[in-house]
Amino acid sequence: MPFPENFITELVDRSDIVDVVSGYVRLSKRSGANLFGLCPFHSEKTPSFSVSPDKQIYHCFGCGKGGGVISFIMEIENLTFPEAVEFLARRAGMPVPEQTDDRESRRRERMLALNREAARWFYAQLSTPAGQSAGAYMAKRRISPATAKTFGLGCAPDGWDGLLRAMEQKGFTGKELFDAGLARRGKNGGYYDVFRNRLMFPVIDVRGNVIGFSGRILGDGEPKYMNSPETPVFNKSRNLFALNLAKKSKSGYIILSEGNIDVVSLHQAGFDSAVASLGTSLTPEQARLISRYTDQVIIAYDNDGAGVKAAQRAIGILEKLDLRVKVLRMSGAKDPDEFIQTKGPEAFRKLLEASENQVDYRLRSVTDKYDLTVDEQKVDFLKEATDLVARLPGAVERQVYAMRVASLAGIGADAVTAEVERRRKRLLSRARSDGERQQTRPERQAQPPDKDLRYADPSSAAAEEGLIRLLYLDPALGRSPELPPAEDFSSEALGHIYAAVRARIDAGSAVSTASLSEALTLQEMSLLVSILQKPELLSSGERALNDYIEKIRERKRLRAGSSDLRALAESLRERKGFKGKDV
Ligand code: UTP
Ligand code: MN
Repeated sequence: MPFPENFITELVDRSDIVDVVSGYVRLSKRSGANLFGLCPFHSEKTPSFSVSPDKQIYHCFGCGKGGGVISFIMEIENLTFPEAVEFLARRAGMPVPEQTDDRESRRRERMLALNREAARWFYAQLSTPAGQSAGAYMAKRRISPATAKTFGLGCAPDGWDGLLRAMEQKGFTGKELFDAGLARRGKNGGYYDVFRNRLMFPVIDVRGNVIGFSGRILGDGEPKYMNSPETPVFNKSRNLFALNLAKKSKSGYIILSEGNIDVVSLHQAGFDSAVASLGTSLTPEQARLISRYTDQVIIAYDNDGAGVKAAQRAIGILEKLDLRVKVLRMSGAKDPDEFIQTKGPEAFRKLLEASENQVDYRLRSVTDKYDLTVDEQKVDFLKEATDLVARLPGAVERQVYAMRVASLAGIGADAVTAEVERRRKRLLSRARSDGERQQTRPERQAQPPDKDLRYADPSSAAAEEGLIRLLYLDPALGRSPELPPAEDFSSEALGHIYAAVRARIDAGSAVSTASLSEALTLQEMSLLVSILQKPELLSSGERALNDYIEKIRERKRLRAGSSDLRALAESLRERKGFKGKDV
């Protein structure tokens, strides 16, 4: 364990969960001991996110996420356990003990140091003869030296081992460059540079670490970009290009574009809140990251079919986080860079101001699909458009857009409004009956909130949950010699939680969400907290313990029996040469 136990205990004592969560969620008191608010981990309109000051845990009845204060920070700030501990320690004004024995974090630090040195070297090449080619290319794209400096752009010269040699001189090995995605291994076992003859864009995270690189070819050719692979410090789906700069913007919104060049060009023109996803379509993690810095996003994707599709997807993802989303309507240029180069920053600012809210945008996309002078197409248009409008949450909003649809289709507003409300009723009743079905189907009820953790044997899992809950609430019960081994559990996740709880009890340590948050994944932590929400009668703890143990044994025998039968059938089939038929 990298952190001493008493350090973690004190840290958690000094990080009251209500205080910490209140920094992200507006909590209000309802009946009972718990506080409630809108869940920060999924989108909802009525609060189902609860925080218990007594138990120092949070739990969302909607999405099932839960844990203690450390898990909360890991989840919401997107941090690993040690990072979350550091984060809270800084907040509580506690010095963090040295963790020099942590090999993994040493390796990460070393890789970050290498990346930083590499970025410096690429940048330095711009002022050498070897970097002339990239310098000329930047000039052609009208990227100024000042902008290059802001972004730390650089040149990977033409050659096989320029970076490799320079980094070796700084004490890094070929293997380290290989691990960082900066070198490849040749046939003879040596290493050579991955990035050659390219304009280099360092990818810098919000803490200022150089986590990876993107290299553009100088001119035409394939592949246009090469990107760092996933490494211990680089995860494409969790980072955005230029967010390190955009997070400081005062504009109040983030501009989301597709290309690195677009971002550079936007910043250069004064739009300092532009970011781009790193050659992938926008991910939910990236959206979450954006939502830490702003509540409004303006999508400025390329002006082509792919861009429109990508924008539709991005809208869906961003809306889930309650971000206000607008979409830029660009014409006469294929992307923001070309627009700014040909029409100037002022014209772009006008576009920003005129950008449409996402309902307008989606409605226009539907309209563009159909020829409304053809009756048949008009019918299809009405179907799709009224469906879109029926899904809008506000009644006034639905009315306004129903009128818009009516005028687009050239028919009466009343007919459209009636159709919208009819569709809405159907949507609502379908949603309601889905909800009821979920509550009345018993095997559904026994399943964990997280679908990934689905129980194969719900009836054993219920007893496994009970056993975990009992041990957590009354660790003294952990001395029972009857306790089954974790392997007897039907659910791997429950077995893992159980093993972690027992390990704490056996070591004579406290059992709490904080002390378990290092051993458990966030998923398992959420599961644990949802298990703790269910009632348990401690007064008859011992009897319940024995019932649970008995149940787990019985189910295990049954499962073993059925798999024995299956194995028997299998071997019979093989011996008799049966094919395909069940015995
Ligand atoms: P674009 O092709 O639009 O590139 O790809 P761009 O940055 O706008 O460059 P110009 O203006 O055409 O010169 C958009 C983004 O997709 C990723 C890169 O992150 C790029 O910025 N991409 C593109 C790749 O990862 N690999 C590729 O081969 C191409
Ligand atoms: Mn582009």
